[in-house]
Parts: sequence; C-alpha cells; structure tokens
Amino acid sequence: MKKINAEQPIGIFDSGVGGLTVAKAVAEVLPNESIIYFGDTAHLPYGDKSQQAIQGYTIRIVDFLLGKGAKAILIACHSASAAAYDVLKNYIGDRALLINVIDPVLQLLEEKYAGKSIGLIGTKFTVWSQIYQRRIAALDANIVFQALSTPLLVPIIEEGLFKHQVIDLVLAEYLSRFSLQNIDALILGCTHYPIIKQAITRFFQGKIDIIDSAQAAAITLKELLTEQQLLADNIKTSRKFYVSDYTPAFAELAKMFFGEGINLELYNQ
Ligand code: DGL
Repeated sequence: MKKINAEQPIGIFDSGVGGLTVAKAVAEVLPNESIIYFGDTAHLPYGDKSQQAIQGYTIRIVDFLLGKGAKAILIACHSASAAAYDVLKNYIGDRALLINVIDPVLQLLEEKYAGKSIGLIGTKFTVWSQIYQRRIAALDANIVFQALSTPLLVPIIEEGLFKHQVIDLVLAEYLSRFSLQNIDALILGCTHYPIIKQAITRFFQGKIDIIDSAQAAAITLKELLTEQQLLADNIKTSRKFYVSDYTPAFAELAKMFFGEGINLELYNQ
C-alpha cells in the first residue's frame, strides 16, 4: 500500500445525491473523519445505464477523489458497485482503499443468515447484473435468494412523497409479489431506500429483518480503517459535497437525504 496518511479524507460517491444516506451513516459511525462526497447528477440515473457507461463515469470520479487526497473510497451506489467495483479496484491499485456497498451485506449474510431466505430490492441494473446471486452462491451458506427491481421507488422518493400514502401503495404492489414471499430478511439494495425503511417495516409488520446496506458499509469502512491503522483523529473535520450538475432541486434533495442542510458545489471538468 502506498503511504497513506490517516488524516486524509474519505471519498464517497454516487450517481446523485441519494448516496448521501451512505455519507450520513459514515458521518455517524466515523465522526472524526473528513468526507469528500461526489454525486454524478449529470449522469443520473445509473440504474438504467449500461455497465460500460457506468465504468467510464466512475473512473473519472475516482480520479477526482484521488486528486482530493482520498485515503479510502466508498462506492455508495449499488448500481456502480455492481457495474464497476472490479475495474475500479484495478485502476486504483494501492493508491487508496476501496469498498463498495455489496461486500458488507454479503459479510452480514454469511455471519447471520445462513440457511435463510433473503430478498433484495434495487435498480434494474443491480438486479439484472445478478451480482448478488453469484456472490451468494459462492458463500456456500445455503441461502435462498430472490431479487426484484423496483424502479418506481427512486422517483417517488425524489418527489418527496416518501411519507405519502402513494409509497405504501407502490410498496404493497412490489413487496407482495411472489418472489418476495416468505423471506426472512430484505436487503435495501439502493441508496434511496433507507428513506423508506419505516414504510417497508410497516408493510412487513416488523416480522422480517431489514438489511440497511448504508449502515453495513459504514461499519465495514470503520473496521477496515481500524485494521489498516488509518482512523483519523481530527478534531475539526471537513465535509465537502460536489455534484457534476447543479439545480436547486438537487440542493433540496441533498437536505432530505443527508438529514440536514449542506452546501453542494458544482464540479464538472
Ligand atoms: N444510486 C443508485 C443505486 O444505488 C440509485 C439511483 C440511480 O439509478 O442512479 O443503485
């Protein structure tokens, strides 16, 4: 590993501002760390794009974050984690640590859910990629796995209707499909879904576990930094948030996803 300094920031990126749910989880689990966030709002949504396109966008983002001195990069986006993790891992080499939002969930499945029936909801890309099927099969943990793409959820959440009854109606339509019957736990396989965790819990009447990948990723990142002796000891942390396209609507959404007002800066090279 190249000489990395513990006081360097953590880079986090997503296709847009939805990944701020992950940044929020990281800020809570690692309050002494500085964070640089990049939301690729100019290329949103990734969930409907090809693997090649996503790989191209994310290499440029990684260049940006490395340029800002990131010691570790967290791919907050599920679609990007599915499409580009291997390529980015190769590209970054020993210049920074790299983690995605899928491996932490797999670790949790292996530790807690062997022999169980697990469901996942996510974007079209994440589900089509079959990454979870392949990785779960490799765990050899006797897990029955079903995934469902739920593309209506992102626009409803972005419209701010996550507390409106429309979300319960759409969730009821998706979550009562055959593929998600009799599951023991449901993976929230998209940056946006922590926002509707309560509505999902309500649908299942609290009878199944909801696996929040944002939370799992933040904990894994902390473990990794601890193991590599790269935990920062900053008293004065800095948090910077960049987007590749700026509109007032993104600024409003950013507030919703991060849970507090933040300043978005435009960066588009
Ligand atoms: N960030 C994406 C994900 O987690 C959802 C939004 C998009 O499709 O870009 O898969």
